[in-house]
Amino acid sequence: MKILSVVGARPNFMKVAPIIAAIARHNDKDAVASGEPGGPVATTIQHVLVHTGQHYDDLMSGSFFRDLNLPKPDVHLGVGSGSHAAQTAEIMKRFENVLVAEKPDIVVVVGDVNSTLACSLVAAKLSLDSAGTRPSIAHVEAGLRSFDRSMPEEINRIITDHLSDLLFVTEQSGIQNLCSEGIPTHRIHFVGNTMIDSLLAFRDKADTSTILDRLGLRAQAGENGTSNAIRPYGLLTLHRPSNVDNREIFLNILTGLEELSQDCPVIFSVHPRTRRRIEECGLDVHSCVTSTKTNGHTQSSGASRTGIILTDPMSYLDFLCLMKHSTIVVTDSGGIQEETTCLGIPCVTVRENTERPVTIENGTNEIAKDGIKYAIRRQLVRKGGNKAPEKWDGRAAQRILDVLVRAHNERRSSQQSSPLQWTT
Ligand code: UD1
Repeated sequence: MKILSVVGARPNFMKVAPIIAAIARHNDKDAVASGEPGGPVATTIQHVLVHTGQHYDDLMSGSFFRDLNLPKPDVHLGVGSGSHAAQTAEIMKRFENVLVAEKPDIVVVVGDVNSTLACSLVAAKLSLDSAGTRPSIAHVEAGLRSFDRSMPEEINRIITDHLSDLLFVTEQSGIQNLCSEGIPTHRIHFVGNTMIDSLLAFRDKADTSTILDRLGLRAQAGENGTSNAIRPYGLLTLHRPSNVDNREIFLNILTGLEELSQDCPVIFSVHPRTRRRIEECGLDVHSCVTSTKTNGHTQSSGASRTGIILTDPMSYLDFLCLMKHSTIVVTDSGGIQEETTCLGIPCVTVRENTERPVTIENGTNEIAKDGIKYAIRRQLVRKGGNKAPEKWDGRAAQRILDVLVRAHNERRSSQQSSPLQWTT
């Protein structure tokens, strides 16, 4: 059985890592069961990891491979940046050659980025032999809908879901959305959330990060009672085109953060796209912003600062450590809404909607509908009341692998019984 998984952009890496770990566990178990450790085993799963290169630099990609113990990609497509059409088309052209060469049984795509759409489209139209055989397509994180088609990710989600044979859903809303779009229920599997598998696996290790010291967020001896207490701080990420591409909207968001940043430092992990907009728009953020390098040598003078503190994009463990200990998180990321829900940290989402309603119903998330300042005020006095969403228990990847193995075996036996009639 050969599984090919695709990663491309930052949020993909933590979603795929637990699936690769589950495959390794499966292969270990299999070797033991066969009594021939190290020897060839019939049911061993061969895994091929493809990196499209949508995100390509160390801060957005390389550091995640190290932190998450991901193997080096077997294939790197090196597509880099471009317009949506150019990036998607380039991934498709290069990925087709990989599928023809590798002939996997299953292609696993995750999330909602351009790489997800491009690779599922190629797999769906592939024909590997005269019978039209193609790999099955498995979409991890299927069914999420913001109902806002101005988001490129929404287009990617809808199309990927409709091309997929196996749809792995993270929350109940996903099942309802897929059913109401006519996706047959036998294709839908509610398995939980592999991003949360990673979070639970690395939550303790995140405390080995030195980011709090590097940003001067530990209280001095005698301050706050103990020598290593952590000071209150907010954490900010913004990268959606709808928030950062328009100067006025971006400035409004920063204004909404003023009150919080007068009380405590707000650490702003700046995405490359956002960094570029700050420069292009000539935003006058210097009055409230102090740029701080977090990779390499860092000053630790943040301790006495308030204001918004700009940093480079963080590694997985640094960011997880910062999320875990923050007073509040303000973001427009989808994944961070889920991670804060799981960590029980109040989150304000700077968007009009969310495709992850469980983070509001069960979790700690609030959409900043009536203004960021007011949402922050409410969230700062929030008192618990959240509970972990169903199946966000660290075992989603194992459930996915169990379904993949079962589906593969069923497909093989149906091919053997009527080889000319098989279709997906
Ligand atoms: C992409 C995803 C978005 C995801 C986000 C996480 C799509 C449509 N969007 O948006 O869903 O939430 O990633 O980060 O797939 N850049 C670098 N270094 C890199 C990668 C990008 O400097 O390693 C710069 C490039 O100049 C590029 C810009 O960042 O133009 C945006 O990158 P891109 O992948 O096009 O989209 P994101 O905004 O990152």
